[in-house]
Amino acid sequence: MDYKAFIDEQIAEIKESVGNQIAMNALSGGVDSSVVSVLGHRAIGNRLKTVFIENGLMRQGEPQRVLKIFSDMGIPIQIIDAKREFLGALKGLTDPEEKRNAITKTFYATVFGRLVRETGAKYLLHGTILTDIEETVAGIKRQHNILAQIGIDPEKEYGYQVLEPLKTLRKDGVREVAKLLGLPPEITQRIPFPGPALATRIVGEVTEERLATVRAATAIVEEELSDTGAFQYMAILLSDRATGMVGGKREFGQIIVVRCIHSVDARTATPVELPWDKLKRICERITAIKDVNRCLYDLTPKPPATIEYI
Ligand code: XMP
Repeated sequence: MDYKAFIDEQIAEIKESVGNQIAMNALSGGVDSSVVSVLGHRAIGNRLKTVFIENGLMRQGEPQRVLKIFSDMGIPIQIIDAKREFLGALKGLTDPEEKRNAITKTFYATVFGRLVRETGAKYLLHGTILTDIEETVAGIKRQHNILAQIGIDPEKEYGYQVLEPLKTLRKDGVREVAKLLGLPPEITQRIPFPGPALATRIVGEVTEERLATVRAATAIVEEELSDTGAFQYMAILLSDRATGMVGGKREFGQIIVVRCIHSVDARTATPVELPWDKLKRICERITAIKDVNRCLYDLTPKPPATIEYI
């Protein structure tokens, strides 16, 4: 594919669709939303309002990291604190699809609905990629960002239209476009991270306490595995517990799963054969997190598993 021509076409299309109106987009710091932010700014400049939604589900240090990169590129970002709204909507939910649904609704209806009313934006630019659409349509899982393809009319339901400039690309294509747009390696080489963020890494209820546990484990896994060249690596908190011993006392503690996979486009994946020493070190560090006494390594390819746990 001619990615340079792709960029020109998408910029022209955004310009033409938005006209003189205002558009918004949410930046998460992942490669997809970063590419959309740059394309949108090139197309309509400051008529694109880019927001970073602090949903309380982010990794350690994430908002600060993203803001710095974009302010260095001269793209202004507004931070929206929506932590209470997201955690409130997730309260008591354990079913994966209900959790995803709650995040979708909070994002599109509650938070974006409010922002759209405040800014008068008529368009939402969105980082949906081809894999998201295919998996949602195939009924494998409802990606948080899919609307029209499953019969939701955002104009009718939320009062704005959605533009999806990346919907013909897969992850590898998005990375090529990101490089051509001059995004730094920190973004172009960043491992994929799902929109619903750490909520996809928690089996069972998402609470602040459980988020803190998976956030700490995620920081360890990302630090230990960033030199593997793997497509994606992550820590998952299970809802089961296991017996362990801490300070000579019995403890019924938490279980963290570590997953590290090779993949080209996330449609299939195989587990990485990590060196034993590395696994042992990760296990030691993760079981040092408060209340965690087991650490497991997931050997399952996709299929039959998916990459995320919910
Ligand atoms: P699965 O778990 O479906 O994941 O094998 C495939 C790839 O997509 C990412 N993923 C998501 N990305 N919103 C996103 O933006 C989502 O709801 C979502 N769910 C999964 C996942 O991290 C993997 O790279």
